[in-house]
Amino acid sequence: MAKMPFSLLTLDELDAGGLSSLICDAMRLKRHRRAGAAKLKSRTLAMIFSKPSTRTRVSFEVAMAQLGGHAVSLDLARMQASRGESLADTARTLSRYVDAIMARVYDHADIVELADHATVPVINGLSDMFHPCQTLADLLTIREHKGQLAGLDVAWVGDGNNVCNSLIYGCGLARINIKVATPRGFAPDPRAVAESKKRTGVSVMADPASAVAGADVVITDTFTSIHNTAPARIKKFLPRYRVTDSLMARADPDAIFMHCLPAKRGQEVSASVIDGQQSVVWDEAENRLHTQKALLLRLLS
Ligand code: CP
Ligand code: NVA
Repeated sequence: MAKMPFSLLTLDELDAGGLSSLICDAMRLKRHRRAGAAKLKSRTLAMIFSKPSTRTRVSFEVAMAQLGGHAVSLDLARMQASRGESLADTARTLSRYVDAIMARVYDHADIVELADHATVPVINGLSDMFHPCQTLADLLTIREHKGQLAGLDVAWVGDGNNVCNSLIYGCGLARINIKVATPRGFAPDPRAVAESKKRTGVSVMADPASAVAGADVVITDTFTSIHNTAPARIKKFLPRYRVTDSLMARADPDAIFMHCLPAKRGQEVSASVIDGQQSVVWDEAENRLHTQKALLLRLLS
């Protein structure tokens, strides 16, 4: 029996059945764009942003509109929380108005605090540690382009960051083997690695060429996340961890390239790769909408 979480903070809340049924629902919703048009009628999602966003903000807002509901977009800087009201009290208050809360925060402890005190589901729209909604879209994208998930080989190259941590959980649940190549000091969350190792092959290494060898999917992300913009950190990644044509040539000839976006061409990825034939980044961005519709329907209907 698939387990559906009350809140989605890391992706580890899902079991394999729950993840698989969300991906199937998202595929159906993508095929039938108007399906579920009134399913969330009169339902409301509060979206709290303490950091910038393009894809997350728009895809959640459009998802709620397409399902007949409404999203309220809130910038933390303009809420009383910016003047000292606790996130616990913010969560208690919003829970009296809305049916779910999605929040993008700096410190993962903040989303945990919201979830601990909300009486409605809480969705992590990106914290410094995890990005579960991105992983749902990434897995749908891989399933569409490769026709399967289990048994595939994914290579993550670059920063072992929030996007990487949730992807590791997702690969575990979907039984995808994942190799992560990062410079020393930038490895992913050891708990995500240990947990996923119980279900699939997970290895963390320094050498991008070894991680990418024969891979079906090559993924990277920015070297300067919103919560971590120190310019000095880029030097630790370049030039070795940039995804270039020659690195892609080591992957399976039919390998796809993915990136959650926003991307810095010429930094973590060459323009020729992200704008090339193997790149599926626009499908990946679109799939945020379909997977979040599936998630909202599960959590709210
Ligand atoms: N991938 C992603 O979360 O994009 P935004 O930062 O634009 O929301
Ligand atoms: N790792 C990036 C992802 C943005 C969607 C960040 O945290 O800024």
